[in-house]
Amino acid sequence: MHPDLDRILLTEEQIITRVRELGAEISRDYEGERLLMVSVLKGSVVFMADLMRTVTVSAGIDFMSISSYGMGDKTSGVVKIMKDMDQSVEGKHVLIVEDILDSGMTLRYIMNLMEARNPASIEICTLLDKPERRAPGVDVKCRYIGFTIPDAFVVGYGLDYAEKYRNLPYIGVLSPLVYG
Ligand code: IMP
Ligand code: MG
Repeated sequence: MHPDLDRILLTEEQIITRVRELGAEISRDYEGERLLMVSVLKGSVVFMADLMRTVTVSAGIDFMSISSYGMGDKTSGVVKIMKDMDQSVEGKHVLIVEDILDSGMTLRYIMNLMEARNPASIEICTLLDKPERRAPGVDVKCRYIGFTIPDAFVVGYGLDYAEKYRNLPYIGVLSPLVYG
């Protein structure tokens, strides 16, 4: 285990098993359709790379980058587009792929933006959900959730703290000593 972690929350095996289940569910739900998977940079790239290879329906990919966090562990509440998608979503079946649903501000913002662009359908697949952290009045519906986790700051499998730990193959709880 990385020395900056308190404990491992999800092992590589647990993650890959769950990702395969999500991929199977998505493949069933979108049977006969063409899907556009949109990864929210940078946290969801590892999840996206694994998930897309478990999806058996025809699927395109695109990326967008949103900033809502500074270099720390608390949301600033300010959401802005750093990089938009390359292709239009109009008339397409869009699946937003996110690493974690925390306050919900980022996904709420993305959903509002996307809905205004007239996709054929739009759903969210998030690897992690921290329901206890949802900001008051922020309502985000995710069709696919990998794991519901307690209120702790987690890193690894794409998730960072100050741009570190993204390359860990598992997900762990960061020691408060690191961000103290
Ligand atoms: P929200 O807008 O508060 O839902 O924040 C979502 C974004 O905050 C995620 O896409 C992550 O980039 C980041 N985030 C929230 N919680 C964590 C965490 O526990 N570890 C690492 N990043 C997190
Ligand atoms: Mg993110």
